[in-house]
Amino acid sequence: MTRAVSVTAPAKINLSLGVGPRRDDGFHPLATVYQAIGLYDEVSVVQADEVSVEVRAHDRLPAGDVPTDARNIAVAAARLLAEHHGVERGARIVIDKRIPVAGGMAGGSADAAATLVACDRLWDLGSTRDELAGLAARLGSDVPFALVGGTAIGSGRGEVVTPLMTLGSYWWVVLESPRGLSTPAVYRELDAMRESSEVGPPEIPDALLKALRGHDVADLGAALSNDLQPAALRLRPELQEALAVGLAHSAHGAVVSGSGPSCLFLCEARSQAVQVADGLAGSGLGPVSFAPGPVHGARVVAKEA
Ligand code: C5P
Repeated sequence: MTRAVSVTAPAKINLSLGVGPRRDDGFHPLATVYQAIGLYDEVSVVQADEVSVEVRAHDRLPAGDVPTDARNIAVAAARLLAEHHGVERGARIVIDKRIPVAGGMAGGSADAAATLVACDRLWDLGSTRDELAGLAARLGSDVPFALVGGTAIGSGRGEVVTPLMTLGSYWWVVLESPRGLSTPAVYRELDAMRESSEVGPPEIPDALLKALRGHDVADLGAALSNDLQPAALRLRPELQEALAVGLAHSAHGAVVSGSGPSCLFLCEARSQAVQVADGLAGSGLGPVSFAPGPVHGARVVAKEA
């Protein structure tokens, strides 16, 4: 039986994020284009009597807020998988965090997706992709996408994922914030801002799909959109300046990532990403990194039998 498995799962960004009116269950209908970028959390699991988790954060990441008890989404993922198969299993889960915590890049969802894949292998359960996707959807809106990666359309509350076949690849500069933002708080802010207006169903801009099909980086930069951005900017006005600084340093587009506060800057090539990252780093706004996209979803990287 396999005794140790390591799985990486990528950060997600939203090239467009259309948010409809709040549903009765508290979630919002989404029409989004997801892309997985080359910034990964790594989840390693070994056999143990109970399910437990340890979070190892890199220096630049304030991961102190990540719970290490049953509230940790990786613990929930392992337990849900065992329960689904009607088995009692334990695992010691170690998460190596590189994706910003509470940064609007679905780091927790990546951990959940990686844990599902890792424990499935560790425990020799042989779940199908559909089974894992179903469990992922119960864990969180962004978890199914973290399983598949690439570029995909998300609908429902984000959990219905349809892969998009696109040829282009890009580089993304990521500006992190020293403090994360709560996703529910950003949605609440959006609801408050929209109180007196009629909100239609969410849409994916045609211009974005066209730019992706033609892999035109300038058009793609112009078509990036995020309905949560005004709410994130209300809660963190300083992000407005950050977006402007990246554009001034030649990025093709700038947008808040998901519910924020991470900001994303679109580049054509690695050399341009270095230039934009240098410009942002010089302004002292926060930690800066860059990564290619699209990349694959959760994937086994090491296995010790
Ligand atoms: O699904 P997930 O657990 O990631 O969602 C976290 C929170 O974000 C939800 O409790 C809800 O407040 C908000 N959310 C939402 N509509 C969505 C996705 C998330 O309102 N489509």
